[in-house]
Amino acid sequence: MVKYKYMENLMEKISSLVKRRGFIFQSSEIYGGYQGFWDYGPAGVELKNNLKREWWKTMVYGREDVVGIDAAIIMNPTTWEKSGHLKAFTDPLIECKLCNKRVRADKEEIIKEHEEWHAKKDEKVVWTEAKNFNLMTEVYLGVTEPKEKAYLRGEITQGVFVNFRNVVDSTRIKIPFGIAQIGKAFRNEITPGNLTFRSREFEQMELEYFVKPDEKESEKTFNEFKELRLKWYTDLGLDPKKLHFHDHEPEKRAHYARYATDIEYDAPFGWSEMEGIHHRGDYDLGNHNLKYTDNLTNEEYTPWVIETSGGVDRATLFFLIDSYREEGERVYLKLNPKLAPYKVAVFPLLANKPELVSKARDLYNELKKNLVVTWDSRGNIGKRYFAQDEIGTPWCVTVDFDTLEDNTVTVRDRDTAKQERISIDKLSEYFSEKLK
Ligand code: GAP
Repeated sequence: MVKYKYMENLMEKISSLVKRRGFIFQSSEIYGGYQGFWDYGPAGVELKNNLKREWWKTMVYGREDVVGIDAAIIMNPTTWEKSGHLKAFTDPLIECKLCNKRVRADKEEIIKEHEEWHAKKDEKVVWTEAKNFNLMTEVYLGVTEPKEKAYLRGEITQGVFVNFRNVVDSTRIKIPFGIAQIGKAFRNEITPGNLTFRSREFEQMELEYFVKPDEKESEKTFNEFKELRLKWYTDLGLDPKKLHFHDHEPEKRAHYARYATDIEYDAPFGWSEMEGIHHRGDYDLGNHNLKYTDNLTNEEYTPWVIETSGGVDRATLFFLIDSYREEGERVYLKLNPKLAPYKVAVFPLLANKPELVSKARDLYNELKKNLVVTWDSRGNIGKRYFAQDEIGTPWCVTVDFDTLEDNTVTVRDRDTAKQERISIDKLSEYFSEKLK
């Protein structure tokens, strides 16, 4: 149900804003785009980097028991045989016998839409039987024919497992411990859509947490990570009422999962998975034949894995959707300042007064030493506020004629649109206090 008027057509509004303000562009748009691929513009890359940085701060720097890695995207293809992806990483696919359109057999809405489209032409759709369609993306490497078939990783996770021994041997880390990673994954999705929500190239932020094989203890760890991950999203400002857990029925679980829960967001296109929390048991380390030896007891065992697997692009999209506000004519993104692409925008009141421009430039260069700051001298102040609101810049600073007299500036707050006069000497302190 639409709660506020501005939520009507929200996806259309977001799709237009992300392009207009440089968050997200269609990939290779000048050639008609490419389905399932997206590029991040100047504002988008900042938002996405801020999100990843916050994740790394919480999941790696904030913990003693977690280290990070950055593994290669293309791995020895044996990895994917052992991990089960070549056999089991599939979606059910059906094909329309009238026009050969292929859709995922579990996407009822898309199926209905397609049937209605044919019905308008008095045609009745007949679908083929569902077939399993493998999502791995093939690449061909080498200089001699036939070239060697390899794969773009379908999940970033396997890079962690194949490095399990390297990490244990090269650090002092002991079970229970985690290995974190952020990076690109690729899936040959049957029906990409809803902007970046379902893409063929996307980024994941994952923690693989290794524990002793113990039913009770591992369940406790699983539940702790569920709560920790949910809290991470709400601490950064996502509306708690729009988040819930969705436990997976056994038949819906990925091939590696003993049990699984999704954190779902109440998107304009329905409740949608943003992050998966999985109990992978000994599935992966077992298949890769990797064991752990406790140095104190000499006990050797295959650890169990609790995984938190978030989508960077989905989280970025949901933070954009969640922060979208309209107040009369005003549109703004109420992003947590930690996530906002730019923290401060600096303007000279008039672009044709060199003394104002020069003073504003000095201030801009000074603030830039510690903050991500943007500059705008186009049009009038109203237009500049309008643009910065849509980008989600929390504070706009204007240098005017009074600044030249008393060294104060106008600071305008994005959320309240209120302005206050602050001395330039106090500005750094003012912003660092707000950004705590
Ligand atoms: N390693 C476990 C794993 O990959 P998953 O549930 O398949 O689990 C984890 O994926 C997260 O990756 C999802 O919750 C979602 O946020 C993101 N994700 C998966 N497929 C995606 C796609 N096609 N486009 C964008 N994000 C995707």
